[in-house]
Amino acid sequence: MRIAVVGATGLVGEPTVGALEHRGHAVVPVSRSTGVDLLTGAGLENALDGVDAVVDVTNTVAVHPAEAERFFESATCNLLAAEERAGVGHHVVLSIVGLDRIRGNGHYHGKRRQETLVQGGPVPWTIQRTTQFFELPAMVVSWTRSHGAATIPPLLIQPVAVQDVAAVLAELVTGPPRGWAPDLAGPELQDFVDMARRILATGQDHTRLVPSWRDGPFGVEAAGEVLLPGPCARLGTTTFDSWLARSPGTVDVDDLLDPRRSDALHPHAH
Ligand SMILES: NC(=O)c1ccc[n+]([C@@H]2O[C@H](COP(=O)([O-])OP(=O)(O)OC[C@H]3O[C@@H](n4cnc5c(N)ncnc54)[C@H](OP(=O)(O)O)[C@@H]3O)[C@@H](O)[C@H]2O)c1
Repeated sequence: MRIAVVGATGLVGEPTVGALEHRGHAVVPVSRSTGVDLLTGAGLENALDGVDAVVDVTNTVAVHPAEAERFFESATCNLLAAEERAGVGHHVVLSIVGLDRIRGNGHYHGKRRQETLVQGGPVPWTIQRTTQFFELPAMVVSWTRSHGAATIPPLLIQPVAVQDVAAVLAELVTGPPRGWAPDLAGPELQDFVDMARRILATGQDHTRLVPSWRDGPFGVEAAGEVLLPGPCARLGTTTFDSWLARSPGTVDVDDLLDPRRSDALHPHAH
């Protein structure tokens, strides 16, 4: 099959391209760095020529709800319209578990708009919601760190490896449209503060962690089981321990953070 990965250069996009190529598919990588801008539509028509299916893993640095909504609305409308013109038969989009239960985060607001547009759009669709990625605690440390301390929300999560997400997206986009796919999560529950502490320890980073619902991307509405997957969730196999161990002593929060994304899930996104 010929498959366009939109957001191909991103954290999830790169392994998704790899997973599809590994399965022998022809992949069209789409991002601004490959000459396609979703916000203007420039380059989309050429990129989608002959494409059978699209997987959308784009992202924005937008912080405020209106800004995030504008990004996901323009990007999704332009993409779906171009897919319809090109005769694309399946649109797969990556979204987030618990999206409806979190109101105080601008990124989540934009993602809700994206989901709505895909559901009402002209192209048969699959929406895959996943839990937080293993990289997220390090990103939050980078966003909130100041004078040797970082604020971390005391979340209960069931995080997933982006490689496992990529494998599932590759499977979905090469199959028939499914509508809502079961939630995807990792194999184990984790304490977000503990994850951050362990990531920092591998890089011998002595940033002091301050557990707090204030001044971070998630307020107290994210307490309890709010971010956990539904009962019929599909589980990835990569454990946080094995992810941490993949390059002992070298996990550096700054390596995990693309400065473009430094505000992407930031708190006062409303
Ligand atoms: N972080 C989490 O824990 C988590 C959990 C569940 C779901 N998700 C979702 O996963 C998705 C992907 O996240 P990610 O971390 O992989 O994103 P990312 O690393 O920031 O990558 C974003 C991609 O989008 C492309 N892009 C941005 N603006 C564009 C534009 N105007 N036109 C074309 N391409 C554009 C970027 O390439 P260029 O810069 O070259 O354009 C890049 O390839 C997001 O939608 C997020 O909501 C995240």
